[in-house]
Amino acid sequence: AFAQVSVTIDAAHPGAVINKNVYGQFAEHLGTGIYEGMWVGPGSKIPNTKGWRNDVVGALKDLHVPLVRWPGGCFADEYHWRDGTGPRAKRPVKVNTNWGGVEESNAVGTHEFFDLVEMLGADAYVNGNLGSGTPQEMSEWVEYMTSDSKSTLANLRRKNGREKPFKLAYFGIGNEAWGCGGNMTPEYYTGMYKHFKSFLKAPEATRPKFIASGGNDNDTKWTDVISRDAAHETDGISFHYYTIPTGKWEVKGAATGFDEAQWIATLANTLKIDGMITNNVAKLDKNDPDKKIGLFVDEWGTWYDVEKGTNAGFLFQQNTMRDAVVAALNFNIFHAHAERVRMTNIAQMVNVLQAMIITDKDKMILTPTYHAYQMYVPFQDATSLPVALANNVPYRVGGVSIPGVSASAARGKDGKLWLALVNTNPGQPVDVALDVGGRHIAAVNGQLLTAAAMDAHNTFQQATTVKPVPFSARAAGGKLSVKLPAKAVVVVAVEVQ
Ligand code: AHR
Repeated sequence: AFAQVSVTIDAAHPGAVINKNVYGQFAEHLGTGIYEGMWVGPGSKIPNTKGWRNDVVGALKDLHVPLVRWPGGCFADEYHWRDGTGPRAKRPVKVNTNWGGVEESNAVGTHEFFDLVEMLGADAYVNGNLGSGTPQEMSEWVEYMTSDSKSTLANLRRKNGREKPFKLAYFGIGNEAWGCGGNMTPEYYTGMYKHFKSFLKAPEATRPKFIASGGNDNDTKWTDVISRDAAHETDGISFHYYTIPTGKWEVKGAATGFDEAQWIATLANTLKIDGMITNNVAKLDKNDPDKKIGLFVDEWGTWYDVEKGTNAGFLFQQNTMRDAVVAALNFNIFHAHAERVRMTNIAQMVNVLQAMIITDKDKMILTPTYHAYQMYVPFQDATSLPVALANNVPYRVGGVSIPGVSASAARGKDGKLWLALVNTNPGQPVDVALDVGGRHIAAVNGQLLTAAAMDAHNTFQQATTVKPVPFSARAAGGKLSVKLPAKAVVVVAVEVQ
């Protein structure tokens, strides 16, 4: 007999709304994440709209991508926006010093980026250059994007093809200021942030929300100092955490061909973000009791050793069933912190790190991570509901132990009661008994993602090795239990009578 875990959903005490931007994406000028992976240019034989690949954009639309962060990452603090405007043939070619030292054609710039987000129906999160730019350059970029006046810059935007201001939802002021963004201390950065922010004067109707660049991993000082000293100038503070199997940057671990010790180490490391968020939220609660400031996890995901034979600066890695489980565990954690975690951006959308899509010339495959995002769409803007787990037998390998089951529930915008379940154990199924305040549960219906191998993944030859299948269960006498296969992600609508 398998252990039975009980999952109790408290539908009578709804929590915070899970902002749809929790399902946001990140697209940096890095490797083939933008060029090739998404942008092929209007002259390409690969079918495209305004230069953006139709196949990739179509697949991303199915994910209801709510928000895209661009142009970096580390790239943002060396990016000069004027390089990416005007006739493409005349744009300066730069060196992408952060990512492989390759040539940056600047073919994708502000107008192209907004073409993409407008096609996706997503909000724009543009990240400005604090590290190597000036307040003047940054303020002029914001004016260029947001002004409806007849100023020279607004008219330049019109000359470049855009009559009305762009809808700039979020503007980030620097990135990883503790590292590639300028090697600053939190105090120094906060001063710089306020300095730059003083000159970003968008008209109220088109003013973006402003994001300060925060800390990473176990460091809470950035959240503390920024929310203490710039509380009135910021709408959100970013936070970054990458999941590395070994926990060490030098040798991270492979994306495929790993053993069970690496499986559990990866999941155990990813679960650490829960405590990190809690500790950052404690700083916010101290400095911002009115909860005006969001904690935006604007970079997260798995980071493995790059695939053999690929450019080390391109951060290209395969994506397996393990990545889908990582994604789902993070989603469940983000939901639990929905009150403050109002945005996250997985790194990155296409061909880079934990990607949704991998492309090869005119072909593309959807990764297991893509499928996890697709299954969780009903959680976008849903209202989180408390979930209690009992008898949650730990999954153990060697000295490492993690909860066997992770669960999250919410009332969807569609009125349905949605439940997500993850079985972290790659070798054992588990029975989950459901309870919704003692009410009669008729059935659950939704999707299941699982696979035979821990490192099961999709390839250009076998593109559907990992893909969701329909999943349902009926009640017996008003009680319902769900059998989760080993290493599984399940998202179901619960029918309660
Ligand atoms: O996502 C890749 C890089 O990771 C980003 O450019 C940077 O912000 C982080 O260090």
